Amino acid sequence: MLVSGGELLLRARREGYAVGAFNIQNLEGLWAVTGAAVEERSPVIVAISPGAIRYGGLRLLATAVRTVAEDLPVPLALHLDHGEDLETVSRCLEAGFTSVMIDGSHLPFQENVALTRKAVELAHQKGVSVEGELGRLAGMEEKSVEEREALLTDPAQAEEFVRLTGVDALAVSIGTSHGAYKFKGEPRLDFERLKLVRERVEVPLVLHGASSVPPWAVEKASRYGAQLPGAKGIPEEHLKRAISLGIAKVNIDTDLRLAFTATVREVLATSPGEFDPRKILGPAREAMKEVVREKMRLFGSSGRAVG
Ligand code: G3H
Ligand code: 13P
Ligand code: ZN
Repeated sequence: MLVSGGELLLRARREGYAVGAFNIQNLEGLWAVTGAAVEERSPVIVAISPGAIRYGGLRLLATAVRTVAEDLPVPLALHLDHGEDLETVSRCLEAGFTSVMIDGSHLPFQENVALTRKAVELAHQKGVSVEGELGRLAGMEEKSVEEREALLTDPAQAEEFVRLTGVDALAVSIGTSHGAYKFKGEPRLDFERLKLVRERVEVPLVLHGASSVPPWAVEKASRYGAQLPGAKGIPEEHLKRAISLGIAKVNIDTDLRLAFTATVREVLATSPGEFDPRKILGPAREAMKEVVREKMRLFGSSGRAVG
């Protein structure tokens, strides 16, 4: 069933687990993510970025997700990921999204507040919850203390941001970044900062850039021709700790892309006579589904769709 994103996160925060938000761009992703949610009996957030909208078309993607959600025996929220502007937010509200993110994290504080507050006004009129972001996601290595301070979420500012904007969830920067190259050295997250934000902020917290970049996927892709030297993600133990400190939504995209394309490479290399897309994309979709299932178990959302 289709549910409000805010509801899913409030329950997760109350009960101490996190809901995964999985990015999709097409039907393969949608089947993988919803199939995993059903098998794990887990609530799930299907995330669609502006890039995915440009690739797949807003109406088509939204209709597909809403159609699948109708008969789904587990709760699903349809979420705009990294909404760039109010026009995108409005279009997604019209298309039936049940959660939207407005990402003003690149703006000066007051401008971020102003943009986010307008998105909250638009979305709340329709009963849709809003995620804002404070702090920038960027590699933290080779940065000075001052540069790190400027990028990471400031706990006092976070409290003010939530109060001034009325957001329902807050994405924080504690040392993660998007993509497959998150660290050159040891993975490090600023858990102390997360604790301080949690003490000051009531709404559920969100962790972007949370892919683990599993070695098996990098090895499999590399065996069949990919070049991903130095790819490194967030260790699973770090994710567990972040969830124990109050993260209620964990965003995953890169790991799904890696699992999918590593498997496409494998099938093409090992079955060179194959040209039926279903025989190539089917195994890739399965690999993606298995990754989503593992995340749901790790985040503690498995089995939460009942009772
Ligand atoms: O955080 C961004 C997501 O991974 C979406 O990426 O903009 O390439 O669709 P995208
Ligand atoms: P990853 O690139 O680590 O998967 O992060 C995805 C994300 O934050 C989507 O908003
Ligand atoms: Zn993100």
